[in-house]
Order: sequence, then C-alpha cells, then structure tokens
Amino acid sequence: EMQVQRVVLNSRPGKNGAPVPENFRLEEITLAPDLKDGEVLVRTLYLSVDPYMRCRMNEDTGADYLTPWQISKCVDGGGVGVIDSSRCNNFAAGDVVISFNWPWQTHAVMTGSDLQKVDPQLVDGHLSYFLGAVGITGLTALLGIREKGHITKGANHTMVVSGAAGACGSIAGQIGRLDGCVRVVGICGSDQKCKAIVEDLGFSTAINYHLEDVPTKLKESCPDGIDVYFDNVGGAISDAVIAQMNNGSHIILCGQISQYNKDVPYPPPLSEETQKNLQSKNITRERFTVLNYMSKADAALCELSQWIKSGRIKVLETVVNGIENMGDAFCSMMKGGNIGKQIIKISH
Ligand SMILES: NC(=O)c1ccc[n+]([C@@H]2O[C@H](COP(=O)([O-])OP(=O)(O)OC[C@H]3O[C@@H](n4cnc5c(N)ncnc54)[C@H](OP(=O)(O)O)[C@@H]3O)[C@@H](O)[C@H]2O)c1
Repeated sequence: EMQVQRVVLNSRPGKNGAPVPENFRLEEITLAPDLKDGEVLVRTLYLSVDPYMRCRMNEDTGADYLTPWQISKCVDGGGVGVIDSSRCNNFAAGDVVISFNWPWQTHAVMTGSDLQKVDPQLVDGHLSYFLGAVGITGLTALLGIREKGHITKGANHTMVVSGAAGACGSIAGQIGRLDGCVRVVGICGSDQKCKAIVEDLGFSTAINYHLEDVPTKLKESCPDGIDVYFDNVGGAISDAVIAQMNNGSHIILCGQISQYNKDVPYPPPLSEETQKNLQSKNITRERFTVLNYMSKADAALCELSQWIKSGRIKVLETVVNGIENMGDAFCSMMKGGNIGKQIIKISH
C-alpha cells in the first residue's frame, strides 16, 4: 500500500465565468498496487494544463470528443511518467509513457492500453516536451499550418499569430518562419512576452494587445497585408487581424480562448463586419482539430524533434512544482500567466 495525492473536481465555475483554484481539491488516498493482468503502476513526472480543459469543467462540454470531469472524481489530462511495475507485456519498469487521460495523481494504476511508450531521445531527455513542443501543442502548430495555412515559399508571405507567446503560438510562429514566411508578427499579452518572442524566438515584431492599438500596430508591421493568420484567441484581436488580411488569404482556426469563459458554441459567432470581410476577400477559415490528423503525428513529431535538436526551434516553458498547484497553474494559464507551455512537475 502507498499514500498518493490526487486532484479532484471540487465545483464547476458555471458556463459564464473564469475558473478559480477552488474549483479543484487535493486529496490523499491509499493505493493498493497489486496489479491485474494488463495493468501498470506509473509514477507521474509531468502534467499538462490546456485551454480545452475549460470545456471539461462544464457539465455539457459542447464537444462530443470531450467528456466532462465529474465532481469529486479525479481530474485527468495530458501526462508523462515512468513505469514503476508492470503486468502488461508492452511495458517494462523504467519505460517512459504518455497518455491524454493521465489522472492528476502522483502515482496511479493504469491500463496498459491507455498508454503510449515514447523515446526519450526524441526530446534529448527533456520529457516535459512530450506535453508541448514534441506533443499535442507542437503537432497542433505544425499540422495546423500544413493543413490550413497554405504558406508558399518564395511568395513573401506575412503571417500573424495571436496567443503568440503560448504553447501553440510560440511554435507556430517559428514554423511560419521556417516554412518561408518573410514576416511573422506575434500578438500577446505582456511586454515580457513580446521581448521573448522577438529576441528568443525570432518573430519579426510583437504587439502587446493590452497596451498597444492592435489595428495601428498591425498596419505598421504588415505593410504588405496579411497572408496567413494562426488564430488562437478569436474576439476583437481576430476582428482586427481579419480586417487587414489579403484577398485569398488563409486563417488557421486553432482556438478562440478569449471566448472560453462565455456560454457560446464553438466556434463562437463572428460579427457581421468580420463575416463580410471573410466573404468579400475570399478568406478561408476552416475549423482545425489536431485529433483528426493523428495519422500524420509520427512524421510530424520527428520533424519537430529534429528542428528542436538542431536549435532552429526554441522551446519556452513555464514550470510549476507540485501536484497541489495544478488548479493554480490551470487558472494562471487561462489568464496568461505562462510564457510557452505551462507544465507542472510532479516528481523527478
Ligand atoms: N485545434 C486544436 O486541435 C487545438 C489543440 C491545442 C490547442 N488549441 C487551442 O490553441 C489555443 C492555445 O492553446 P495553448 O495550449 O497553446 O495555450 P497557451 O497559448 O499556452 O495559453 C493560453 C494563452 O491564452 C492567452 N489568453 C487568455 N485569455 C485571452 C484573451 N481574452 N485574449 C487573448 N489571449 C488570451 C494568454 O496569453 P496572453 O498573455 O497573450 O493573453 C494565455 O497564455 C487555445 O485556443 C486552444 O484551445 C487547439
């Protein structure tokens, strides 16, 4: 028997309203790790907090591929850990494994078929990258751009990225540059973030949407208009970007985080003016869901891994320690407390 800590859902924030740390509760439970056939005991190394989890806090998630978290039940999401002991043929003690449904628990008994073995060499031992740049957010950036971005090398394309200092946005902007855009402009929420994406990640320009007038700054920094828009946020920022997009340009509809604390469908309805802009300028704006492209994941993860190893993509992370801080870390990420991927380190 062993004592383990876990995080359960304490309450729901209500469909209109920001989540608060008190929506989560830490518990201690006793784990009896006598494994059945097919089961493994895992030790959690890193857990992920992601915007889609806001939907899982609602009783009705609004998406058929997302199940709601249940009150007083263990919360789950992306995680990486190591096999402590195994009664599953596919795994041996010491293997590093990931899951999209990792319980927010320091140790857990899991079914082998819910886990995927990963190669630590892909991330040079930096295992938290499996939750970000060499995981789902990196894939979202790369596959979103490749499937919906239509970047043409040599065509002098200008790309704009909103949520540019976040997990998806920080990688998307760098891929835009590597795939041949001559200009990549990022929009994000603080001067520190602006500095990081320009000086560390090689964005051409950054706009702090809290302090600067976005339309004016876009006009200055995109003299040839905008050809590709990687949209993480929606709302007024996206209205401003779309107003300056070129004829026949493309939007990667990655996410709309500015609307996630509101009771609206996904994707949220657009203003009449923005709809008119899309139509009159023949701008594509197709919904993109990374989970629909998982057949391309292995090749894409290799590409991301090579770019990171060679230094052409830099990875930013905000790491918080301790399972007791899961709720704080989630709420902080939802309000912009992170630069790069928000990670919670659970154990060594
Ligand atoms: N389509 C897919 O398959 C897929 C997969 C993964 C993620 N996503 C989407 O991608 C987006 C980014 O996710 P992520 O995991 O990379 O998170 P993230 O960008 O690392 O973190 C969220 C960021 O959103 C920004 N934000 C919060 N409220 C905002 C507001 N009202 N207006 C503008 N920005 C706001 C904050 O940065 P600031 O300081 O800049 O405000 C915050 O850091 C989300 O919309 C998510 O739903 C989509």
